[in-house]
Amino acid sequence: MSGALAGSLALVTGASRGIGRAVARRFAAEGATVIAVARHGAALDSLIDEIAADGSPPGVIADIDLTDAISIDALAEWVREHYGRLDVLVGNAATAGEAVEAREQDPSDFDTVLRVNVTANQALIRAFDPLLRASDAGRAIFVTSGLARRPKSHMAAYCASKAALEVLVRAYADDVADSGVRANLLDPGVVNTVLFRSAMPESDTSGMKGPDAVADAFVALARPAETRTGQTLSWKDVVDG
Ligand SMILES: NC(=O)c1ccc[n+]([C@@H]2O[C@H](COP(=O)([O-])OP(=O)(O)OC[C@H]3O[C@@H](n4cnc5c(N)ncnc54)[C@H](OP(=O)(O)O)[C@@H]3O)[C@@H](O)[C@H]2O)c1
Repeated sequence: MSGALAGSLALVTGASRGIGRAVARRFAAEGATVIAVARHGAALDSLIDEIAADGSPPGVIADIDLTDAISIDALAEWVREHYGRLDVLVGNAATAGEAVEAREQDPSDFDTVLRVNVTANQALIRAFDPLLRASDAGRAIFVTSGLARRPKSHMAAYCASKAALEVLVRAYADDVADSGVRANLLDPGVVNTVLFRSAMPESDTSGMKGPDAVADAFVALARPAETRTGQTLSWKDVVDG
């Protein structure tokens, strides 16, 4: 199959809906074999059916909870046994947490946001770094938000998690600077998804872009030809070149 990612093996977290689902479908349309990760297996089943109906390479379902590092390690071991490498890692899954002021937030909710948005991505890096290094052109893309740098009331945990994610990924990019792996952060801007609507229930979403609009930016950063690393890039800058 031809396409910008022909022959690539790509893992996308948060592939059951929203941006991750659009990215998984676009990657498959570009010739990648996609490992689709999320908790809801039925939603992943329908994604895999859509990929097959498109005539794209068959996808693989990994219905795991990313807060469980043992499941992440087991998935990496399965990928090592079956493929021996990973070409593209997209750390996209996230949760917004309760829309409350910092002083009101339940500590367990704050902790969940940090575990999904930060700790799980470190667990992915830990588990998949050897497989990215085993690729001819390992590419890691983590999804951030402008709120990492412009924090907003009622979103302290989410903002803090994205700020921590940015530092984590920039440090990881430095870790792999002497390898062929490239690691970047991508900010998709505002996108009409479940996460956006739950975090900003008062917002008018009419006319807002949908997840498909940002998928090309992920393809660009996933390509073997991509040379940038350690950068935080807006989807628009990536698409406009
Ligand atoms: N939408 C925006 O305006 C916007 C703006 C800036 C940045 N972002 C970022 O874009 C990324 C995608 O967000 P989205 O808007 O597409 O959100 P979304 O539609 O709510 O999708 C979130 C995804 O994460 C998965 N997920 C959540 N917790 C998980 C867990 N514990 N284990 C495994 N998977 C889990 C969900 O799947 P399951 O529920 O099936 O597990 C779902 O597939 C996030 O990193 C978000 O911070 C979004």
